[in-house]
Amino acid sequence: MTKQKPSPAALKPQTLVFVRRGEAVALNNVPPDRTLLDLLREDLRSCDTKEGCAAGDCGACTVVVAQACGGKLAYRAVNSCIRPAHSVHGLAVWTAGDLAATPGSLHPAQQAMVDHHGSQCGFCTPGFVMSLFGLYQDSVCQGQAVNREQAQHALSGNLCRCTGYRPIVQAACHMGDYPVQRVDEPAVLHALAGIEPRGADADYGLPERLEDLLRARSQSPQATLIAGATDAGLQLTQGRQRWRQVIDLSRVAELRVVEDYPHHIAIGAAVNLQHAFEALAQERPHVQAFANRFAGWPIRQSGTLGGNVANGSPIGDSMPLLIALGAHVVLMAWRRGRIVHRELPLETLYTGYRQNLMAPDEVLCWIKVPRPTPHEWLGAYKVSKRVEDDISAICLVVQLQRQGQRITQASIGVGGVAATPVRAVHTEAALRGRDWTPDTVQKAQAVLRQEFEPISDMRASSAYRREVLGNLLQRAWLESTGQTEIRLEDLA
Ligand SMILES: Cc1cc2nc3c(=O)[nH]c(=O)nc-3n(C[C@H](O)[C@H](O)[C@H](O)COP(=O)(O)OP(=O)(O)OC[C@H]3O[C@@H](n4cnc5c(N)ncnc54)[C@H](O)[C@@H]3O)c2cc1C
Ligand code: FES
Ligand code: FES
Repeated sequence: MTKQKPSPAALKPQTLVFVRRGEAVALNNVPPDRTLLDLLREDLRSCDTKEGCAAGDCGACTVVVAQACGGKLAYRAVNSCIRPAHSVHGLAVWTAGDLAATPGSLHPAQQAMVDHHGSQCGFCTPGFVMSLFGLYQDSVCQGQAVNREQAQHALSGNLCRCTGYRPIVQAACHMGDYPVQRVDEPAVLHALAGIEPRGADADYGLPERLEDLLRARSQSPQATLIAGATDAGLQLTQGRQRWRQVIDLSRVAELRVVEDYPHHIAIGAAVNLQHAFEALAQERPHVQAFANRFAGWPIRQSGTLGGNVANGSPIGDSMPLLIALGAHVVLMAWRRGRIVHRELPLETLYTGYRQNLMAPDEVLCWIKVPRPTPHEWLGAYKVSKRVEDDISAICLVVQLQRQGQRITQASIGVGGVAATPVRAVHTEAALRGRDWTPDTVQKAQAVLRQEFEPISDMRASSAYRREVLGNLLQRAWLESTGQTEIRLEDLA
C-alpha cells in the first residue's frame, strides 16, 4: 500500500482518496472489504482510534466524517470498525489525533474531558472525544450551547466502563467554555472538490446517479450491495466474510432525499435513519421518542431506513412502524435498457427469515409512507434489555383511525414474534368497527397474545413476549385515553 499526495487529475478510479488534516490522502490497492478502522490503524498507523467490539456497539472506534453539502460540510460521527474504508472516498475524515490546532494543544472537546475528569483508563476516550467533536461542530461552532439532552443523544453510541457518564456528559455541556476552535472549512471543501468521483464501475462502486446504480446492479447482481453498512459491516468483522465487489448506494443523489406528495412522503433508500425518522416525526411527533431508541447516534447517522427494511430482520424496529403506517416499498431494476419498477405493501416483501422477494438485479429505492389523517392515533413501543443501543425483544406499533369512540380502522405492526416483521391481522379485525373501550381492548389483548408463536431466545422467552405484547396494547389504550402517568421515553 502506498501513501501519496496526488494531483487530482492523475487519480485512477480505484484509488481511495479522502481528506485528512486538510490534505488529500490517496491510497492504492485497498481491498473493497477493508474496514476503515483497519485502514487507519494498520495501514496509516493511526492507533489513536481504538477497537473494542468490532460490532458497532461500543463506540471506541468512532471517527468523524464530513461531506460537502451545498457549499458547507455536513459532519457525522461514525463507527469505523464496521464501515468499509472505501466508503470515505471523497469525504473528509478526522480521528482524535487530528483535532489539536497545534502540536501539544488540545481541542475543546478534549480539554473539557480532561477538566471534567471524563477519562480513566482512556480506552474509550478517543471514541467519546470524536462523538463530542461531531456535536461541537453542529452546536458550539454554530453559536449554540450544548444541553444535557443533546449530549446524551450524541454519546448514545459510546460505552465507558470506568468513569461513569456524568463527567463525560458534563464535559459535553462545557465544551463551549473554551475559545472556539473551527475547522478551516474552505480549505477542506477545496481539497474535497479536487477528488475525482468514483463512479459505479469499480471493485467498490460509488454510483452517484440512480441509473448508474441500477445498471451496476444489473451487471453485477453477485456484488455486495450496501447503504450504511451498519448491518452488512458485521458480515466482515463477525462473520469473517470476504467481499470481492461492493456497490455502495449511499451517494446516489436521487435516493438521498425525502419527497413530499399530497398523500404520502417518499423516503429515498440512501436517507440515513436520523433524517428518515425526523421526516416521519414532522407529522407524527410521537415517532421521535421511538426513533431515539433505535441503536445509538452513530448508527442512526450511517444506517438507512432502506437498509433496515431490506435487511428484514424480524427484530428490526422500523418495519413494525412502517407496516402500521401502511408503507409501500418501490423496487427498481435496469432491464432491457430502461428503469422498471414495482410497488408493494411492505409486509408482503418478506418471504422468510431475512428473505424477501427482491430479484437479484432489484434495488429497494423508495419507502412511501401515507400522511396521517385527522383521525389517526399512533402508539409505538420497543421493549429491549437496555434503553440505548439495543435490539428489540418485542416491538409493537398500533395505528388507529377513530371517529369518536368507534375504531374505523386498525393497523398493527409487530416485531420479535415471527420469522419476519408482521402485521397482526386478527387483532386488527378484533378492533375494527368496535368502540375503543376497556372491554374491546381486553378482548384484543387476548387475540394478540395468541396470534403469534414467538420463539424463546437470549432476548426473551416466548411466554414473556406474549405477555408483554398484550400489555403493550393495554398501554396504548391507557396512553390514548390520557391515563399514563409515566412515559419513560419522555424522561430526558
Ligand atoms: C450497534 C448496532 C445497533 C443496532 N441497533 C438497531 C436497532 O435498535 N434497531 C434496528 O432495527 N436495527 C439496529 N441495528 C441494525 C442496523 O443498524 C439497521 O438495520 C440499519 O437500518 C441498516 O441500514 P444500513 O443502511 O446500514 O444497511 P446495510 O448494512 O448497508 O445493508 C443491510 C442489508 O440490506 C441490503 N440493502 C441495503 N440497502 C438496500 C437497498 N436499498 N436495496 C436492497 N438491499 C439493500 C444490503 O445488501 C444488506 O444485506 C443495529 C446495528 C448495530 C451495529
Ligand atoms: S469497536 Fe466497538 S463500535 Fe467499533
Ligand atoms: S475510561 Fe476506561 S473505558 Fe472509559
